[in-house]
Amino acid sequence: MRLNISSACMFIQALLLAQGAISEAQLTVDFYRSSCPNLQFIVRGTMQVAVMNETRIAASILRLFFHDCFVQGCDASVLLDDTPTMKGEKSAFPNANSLRGFDVIDIIKANVEAYCPGVVSCADILALASRDAVVLSGGPGWNVLLGRRDSLTASVSLAKSNLPAPTDDLNTLIQKFQAQGLSVQDLVTLSGAHTIGLARCTTFKNRLYNNGGSGMPDQTMNMAYLQQLQSICPSTGGDDNLALLDFMTPSRFDTLYYKNLLYQRGLLNSDQELYSSNDSSTSTIVSSYAQNWRLFYQNFATSMISMGNVNPLMGNSGSIRKNCRVVS
Ligand code: HEM
Repeated sequence: MRLNISSACMFIQALLLAQGAISEAQLTVDFYRSSCPNLQFIVRGTMQVAVMNETRIAASILRLFFHDCFVQGCDASVLLDDTPTMKGEKSAFPNANSLRGFDVIDIIKANVEAYCPGVVSCADILALASRDAVVLSGGPGWNVLLGRRDSLTASVSLAKSNLPAPTDDLNTLIQKFQAQGLSVQDLVTLSGAHTIGLARCTTFKNRLYNNGGSGMPDQTMNMAYLQQLQSICPSTGGDDNLALLDFMTPSRFDTLYYKNLLYQRGLLNSDQELYSSNDSSTSTIVSSYAQNWRLFYQNFATSMISMGNVNPLMGNSGSIRKNCRVVS
């Protein structure tokens, strides 16, 4: 048999693929089946204790995963502490004085290391803990795809540019999601995470007193809701006072977040934009989730998997950190 160059290349490639020497990089559900068979129990058990201690921690962990994936992909870059030579993402404006749950991730990591040292990435721990946060808040479960590795760097500048702001309008939100390969539907669906958790006054104050520099409150806001928020969040001071993202069922993962939007009771401008910006591509999804929790649950699981697939580090890239705060 005579081989020309291109068929020889194909032959070698097939051989390497068969031996696993090069691989079509893909996350898998059973990545740690033999290297850390108890992984899912350890993460779930630790999350259970954490949520029993403080209900809000579920929301904080879920948000950590989002802020990880939107900056360099889901690579645990958000967990890195500053060093003399590297400024981490924790001090970036959207994260500073805002992100929580790092200590819980440390505890999960320590528990996992005790059973399977040096095997499981911090990025995968964050993906599993987020799923468990949703389940423990009464929301849907899904099979988490695994096999991510941890970054060797963080990017404070990407944290500033990529993460959406609560003041963003709908077009900007759509663009920021699309920049991560996520769709308009993912935007509306993942925003449903605001069915749990809290936000600081500073993130919505302009809507209450000086919307868009008008000197007036946001005219689209429900009047009773506006007054309620003004009592929590005064025009001067109180920037760190907290308000519920879903004031109806603040710690239950349900569809009340979307129902609130129908009645102009979204907390952040970015929430209400999904329904009130006269763009039917998002408002129809909001209406359908408000009526159909099954659809929201199904789509939330799917969108979380899509977000978890944003630029994972795999194969020989990155590392498995021993301590999630430090590159190793
Ligand atoms: C669509 C664009 C989004 C914007 C503009 C946004 C903005 C915010 C802001 C400003 C806060 C309050 C932060 C503070 O008070 O310091 C917050 C909280 C939260 N966000 Fe988002 N977010 C968005 C999407 C998401 C997504 C996709 C998720 C997860 C899948 C998420 C999960 C959460 C959770 C659970 C909280 C509450 C955290 C806690 O109580 O500790 N958000 N978000």
